[in-house]
Amino acid sequence: MPVPVSRRRDLRGCLFRLTAALSLIAACVTVAAAGTAASAANAPFYAATFEKAPTVAAMTVIGRELFFDTGLSASGRTACATCHVPAKSFGPPDDAAVQRGGRDGRQSGVRAVPSLMYTQNIPPFTEHYFDDEGDDSIDQGPAGGRTWDGRSQSTHEQARLPLFSPFEMANDSPDTVVRKVRHAPYAAQFRDVFGAGVFEDDALAFKAVLMALETFQQSPAEFYPYTSKYDAWLRHQTALSAQELRGLAAFNDPAKGNCARCHPSAMREGAFPQFTDFGYAAIGVPRNRAIPANADPRYYDLGLCGPLRTDLAGKTEYCGLFRTPSLRNVATRRVFFHNGVMHRLEDVVRFYAERDTRPDKWYPRTADGRVRKFDDLPAVYQPNVDRASPFDRTAGGQSDLREGDISDILAFLQTLTDGYETRRISPSMRATTPSQFQ
Ligand code: HEC
Ligand code: HEC
Repeated sequence: MPVPVSRRRDLRGCLFRLTAALSLIAACVTVAAAGTAASAANAPFYAATFEKAPTVAAMTVIGRELFFDTGLSASGRTACATCHVPAKSFGPPDDAAVQRGGRDGRQSGVRAVPSLMYTQNIPPFTEHYFDDEGDDSIDQGPAGGRTWDGRSQSTHEQARLPLFSPFEMANDSPDTVVRKVRHAPYAAQFRDVFGAGVFEDDALAFKAVLMALETFQQSPAEFYPYTSKYDAWLRHQTALSAQELRGLAAFNDPAKGNCARCHPSAMREGAFPQFTDFGYAAIGVPRNRAIPANADPRYYDLGLCGPLRTDLAGKTEYCGLFRTPSLRNVATRRVFFHNGVMHRLEDVVRFYAERDTRPDKWYPRTADGRVRKFDDLPAVYQPNVDRASPFDRTAGGQSDLREGDISDILAFLQTLTDGYETRRISPSMRATTPSQFQ
C-alpha cells in the first residue's frame, strides 16, 4: 500500500542515479553502431541499427531542424516549437490555456503545454517508488514518466504523442513522417548522419527521427543550463536579497509554504535541485471552463487514472493526481497547472494559501449558493486531494502564508529563471576571469 502522497518524502534520490542522459546515449549509440545493422523494428531502441555511428553533436543539429519544422505536421503549420517556444523556456507561446493543432491547425488540446526544460532526469514511471538514499523501505507511491500523467516513458517515446495526436501534429503513421523528412531541406544532412540508406527502411528512419529529437532535447546549453540566480547563489557566486531569502525560507518552512515537500529546493549529493520530486499529487485546482472539452459536464481530466492515460483506469485512488512540475523558469510562464486555469504566478501562490481558508474565492457556487470546492473532481475522488500543510486549514481560518510571505515567495521564484549568470558575474569571479571570457 503506497503511503499517501501527502506524506511522501522527497524523491530526488533517483535523479542522480540516472547519469546525464546525454553521455548515456552517446555511449549506447557508439557501442551500437559497432555491430551489424539489424531490423530497426525489433531491436531495442539504442541497439545497432544505423549504418553510421551518429554523434551526439550531429543528432542535436538534426533534432533542432526537426523540432522547428512545421512541415512535419499534417497542417504544415505546427512544429514542436509552435507549442514549446524556445524563448519561453520551451513552454507555450501565449496565455491560452491550451494550444491548437491538428489537420486544420484549429483543434484545441486538453492540457497546458509544459516546459521541456529540466526534464532530462525524470525517471521512468513507476507506481512504487523507493528512495534508496533515504529510508528505502517506504513505498512512496507513483513517480516519474513524461507528460502530466506519466503515460510516456522516455523523451523518444514521448515524441510519438504529438506527431500522431489528432490535435497536435496529426500524422497518420510513422511512414508519413519519414516521407516528409525524406523531402525536407535537411534530408541530405540526415543521410550524412545516419547513413546513405537510412530512408530505405521506414522504421529505421523513424527511429532516427525520434533519436534526433530526443538528443536535441537533452542538449545542456538549451535545456538544462543551470544559470539562474539561485544556481549562482548555490555556487556562492552571488547573494540573494533579503526578500529572496525570506521567500526561500517560507517556501521551505513546513509551517508556511511547505512547497519543498513536493518541489525540493536543496542540493542533494552535490546535484542541483530540480524543484520537483517527480511524484504525483491531487491539489484540487479549479475546473477551467476555457478548455473546449470541459463544455461537456461529464468530461473530467483525472490525470493518472485517465482518460488520456488508460492503464491505471481502475485505480480510483489515483484520480486527480498529476505529476509535480519543476518550478525552474516558472516565472516565464503565463499558463499554470495541467489545465492552464491560472495565468498569474501570484494567483498560483495565493491559491496555495487560500484554497482552504477562502474556497469561495477560487471555486464557483451551485445554484443554491454552496461553494463547489474541488469542482474539477467528481465527489467520490475528492478524498484523494492533498490535505497536509499548506493545505491543512479550514474555511474562514487564517493561512500561515501571510501577504508578506506570498510576495517573498514570488520574489524567490523569480530567482529560478535561467540567464542570470550571463547577465551578471560576481566581482570575485570577474577578478579571476580573463576579460575575453566575461
Ligand atoms: C499543439 C501543441 C503541441 C505540439 C505541436 C507539441 N507539443 Fe509537446 N506537449 C504539448 C502538451 C499539451 C503536452 C502535455 C501533454 C499531456 O500531459 O498529456 C506536451 C508534452 C510534451 C513532453 C512531456 C514533457 C514532460 O514534462 O513530461 C515532451 C517531451 C514534448 N511535449 C515534446 C514535444 C515534441 C518533441 C514535439 C514535436 C514532435 C511536441 N512536443 C509538439 C503540446 C504540444
Ligand atoms: C503536495 C505536493 C505539492 C506541494 C506541497 C506544493 N506543490 Fe506546487 N504543484 C504540485 C503539483 C502536483 C502541481 C501540478 C498540479 C496540477 O496541475 O493539477 C503543482 C504546480 C505548481 C505550480 C504551477 C507550475 C506550472 O508549470 O504550471 C506552481 C507555480 C507551484 N506548484 C508552486 C508551489 C508553491 C509556491 C508551493 C508552496 C506554497 C507549492 N507549489 C506546494 C505539487 C505540490
